[in-house]
Amino acid sequence: MRILRHPRRPTAHAGVGEPALTIHAPAKLNLTLDVLGRRPDGFHELESLMVTAGWFDTLTFAPADDFALSVTGATGVPTDGSNLVSRAAAALAESAGRTVSGAITLHKRIPHDAGLGGGSSDAAAALLGLNELWGCGLSRIELSEIGATVGSDVPFFLAGSAAGVVRGRGERVEPIAAGPRRWAVLAKPPIGLSTAAVFAAWGGRASANGTARAAASYSGSLAGLAETTVNDLDGPATELEPRLAAERDAFALAGFSRSCLSGSGTSRFALCRSASAARSAAATLRRLRPGPVVAVPLAV
Ligand code: C5P
Repeated sequence: MRILRHPRRPTAHAGVGEPALTIHAPAKLNLTLDVLGRRPDGFHELESLMVTAGWFDTLTFAPADDFALSVTGATGVPTDGSNLVSRAAAALAESAGRTVSGAITLHKRIPHDAGLGGGSSDAAAALLGLNELWGCGLSRIELSEIGATVGSDVPFFLAGSAAGVVRGRGERVEPIAAGPRRWAVLAKPPIGLSTAAVFAAWGGRASANGTARAAASYSGSLAGLAETTVNDLDGPATELEPRLAAERDAFALAGFSRSCLSGSGTSRFALCRSASAARSAAATLRRLRPGPVVAVPLAV
């Protein structure tokens, strides 16, 4: 996630209302998700191989005396204090000992309730953008500590690495070197699940412990990596929402012997040999099932 600074037009006065920064906030996929146990704080101890995926929300930041968040591209997204962007802004302001200000426009493309980390990625972008706009001068590590109070996936997006093994609640990120360019086909059914409900349905079952194997396979062959994708929440999510079984069936019909839920769902993905293979699989999946399907590059 990079900050794009807008060059100031010579005739314009720098100041209130003029967009200063843009950040493209990617989605993430969990190539694996091991749930290792429930913690005393109610969260779950995780191990996950996470990669960014080329499906982006876009945030622009302009100086303003007050704070305003506007959302385009999707309906029903809250613009009040419950949006993770607003919560990130409030957390940063508190930590920096200042008031919240700035006009943020959030263009949504990443679906919510998808296990794609869209809200967390937006929050990470808000922390990066406002840190710059407000001149706070905090490091990514400091921003990450603030981000972890907003959402478990925020530190991954702030780590500055396109792939990493994530541990703890999600706040400990061990970056791993980018392997060869990989693609996935990714489908979001018109069904949502609450992350908390899926974790509660997990109920202490044994982990597939897939992350170490997947991390070792990450820079190897695609077939080897594809064999290691596994998500301990796949079973619990499908028990909560039996219609998700039809998603797995659709991937099988499209020729994928293995497909995997991302995060707590409800989106599902399969790894593909190339961009054209991912696009062709996306076209097949669009015919087989409802809801958006995209072909995305990984580790963007
Ligand atoms: O941190 P985040 O807001 O993404 O978490 C949403 C919910 O998912 C939490 O309230 C918790 O119920 C569950 N969760 C968990 N263990 C994690 C991450 C999330 O139990 N490591």
